[in-house]
Amino acid sequence: MAQDWIPANWKQERFTAKHLPEYLDAGALAEATDTLQGFPPLVFAGEARKLKEELGTVAKGEAFLLQGGDCAESFAEFSPNNIRDTFRVILQMAAVLTFASKLPVVKVGRMAGQFAKPRSSATETKNGMVLPSYFGDNINGIEFSPASRTNDPQRMLRAYSQAAATLNLLRAFAGGGYANLREVHRWTLDFMGRSPWAEQYKSIADRIGEALDFMEACGVDIEDQPQLNTASFYTSHEALLLPYEEAMTRQDSLTDEWYDTSAHFLWIGDRTRFINSAHVEFLRGVNNPIGVKCGPSLEPDALLQMLDVLNPARVPGRITLIGRFGHEKVEADLPPLVRAVTREGHPVVWSCDPMHGNVIKSDSGFKTRPFDRILAEVRGFFAVHRAEGTHAGGIHLEMTGQDVTECTGGAVAITDEGLSSRYHTHCDPRLNAAQSLELAFLLAEMLNLELGESRRAAA
Ligand code: PEP
Ligand code: CO
Repeated sequence: MAQDWIPANWKQERFTAKHLPEYLDAGALAEATDTLQGFPPLVFAGEARKLKEELGTVAKGEAFLLQGGDCAESFAEFSPNNIRDTFRVILQMAAVLTFASKLPVVKVGRMAGQFAKPRSSATETKNGMVLPSYFGDNINGIEFSPASRTNDPQRMLRAYSQAAATLNLLRAFAGGGYANLREVHRWTLDFMGRSPWAEQYKSIADRIGEALDFMEACGVDIEDQPQLNTASFYTSHEALLLPYEEAMTRQDSLTDEWYDTSAHFLWIGDRTRFINSAHVEFLRGVNNPIGVKCGPSLEPDALLQMLDVLNPARVPGRITLIGRFGHEKVEADLPPLVRAVTREGHPVVWSCDPMHGNVIKSDSGFKTRPFDRILAEVRGFFAVHRAEGTHAGGIHLEMTGQDVTECTGGAVAITDEGLSSRYHTHCDPRLNAAQSLELAFLLAEMLNLELGESRRAAA
């Protein structure tokens, strides 16, 4: 793959780099990236290859991708409880989805490196003062002051160490007993409050427990079965801050291929996916599985051109297309892309990001996403794939395990007035734990409808 490629290729003048910070002190930038280059990789090439294989099964319709986490991780919200709670909700959602659909679920966190943010406006004005926007904690600070809003390359080193510590804890949870299916039982659901879904969750957890008891009675030693007492969990973020990503890119000693070792999976945002984009050029050369966000402005021909650049060998699992059209547009804008990609034989994973096309400003002044609009986009996404005969392969969510009040609606409804009580996000509004689990139940219903139809058609 990509013989004619080195990690610094994206800097060539023929590529257009958007949404990259300007660093006034080139020496300070070089010092930070040189230091990063000497640091250990965060993930290993073999792990990225394994994820690519698993995504290949999603592309074939034999598994489902669940990707979620913060819009932006932050230095301020870095805590073991936050990491544990988001990990736990993702595992709970996966249990619901697997139990209901009997499909394996590939779990990927927007975690351990999701810091850099593209912003629609380069500046922000408050009380007559104009300052650069906040671009994520690995670039500048959220506090509205000239010092904090100055781009500082040293922030990349802090982001690296936070990502390393987060990944270390995730690996410990995934492999050290916390993710044992037996634990699913014990995970409390305080965050569900009065939600009718709490009962449903308990019933699934009980049935999983019974199935495990049954297997043990038959002589299976659960503690000996890695599939039951560990979880595979991968990390991902938007590969926006190219100096950081370039510094983390290494050649695999086994295969000589390049891998961006900052995460297992990297994606290109909706604002940086275009022909001759520096971001596309960068991701062309790394062998990780990659995502491309697809918004309403993406024409089928442009998508096909980018797919030819990013996946000329048409490797299944290499590309995940993450649609984010908005609930009113998905049913009109997604089918032309699905038809073009299917016609050209590109084996992609189709995933749905129902968050980024459904942002509104609430009457109380907060940026929010109504749960019913999120759900409407997900329903539209499944309807399109049922009509086209393709697999609705995944979901991409901004969510947290915390009991925040950032998106309105859900079974335990968050009202406009309620938004202010626990609105903590550093960027976009996230689903809270109860809303995430509720969505998993609704997703399971939709997935079963698709699977029922395809099984009937095959019979
Ligand atoms: C994001 O996923 O945080 C994001 C900025 O999305 P998009 O590129 O789809 O707008
Ligand atoms: Co976001």
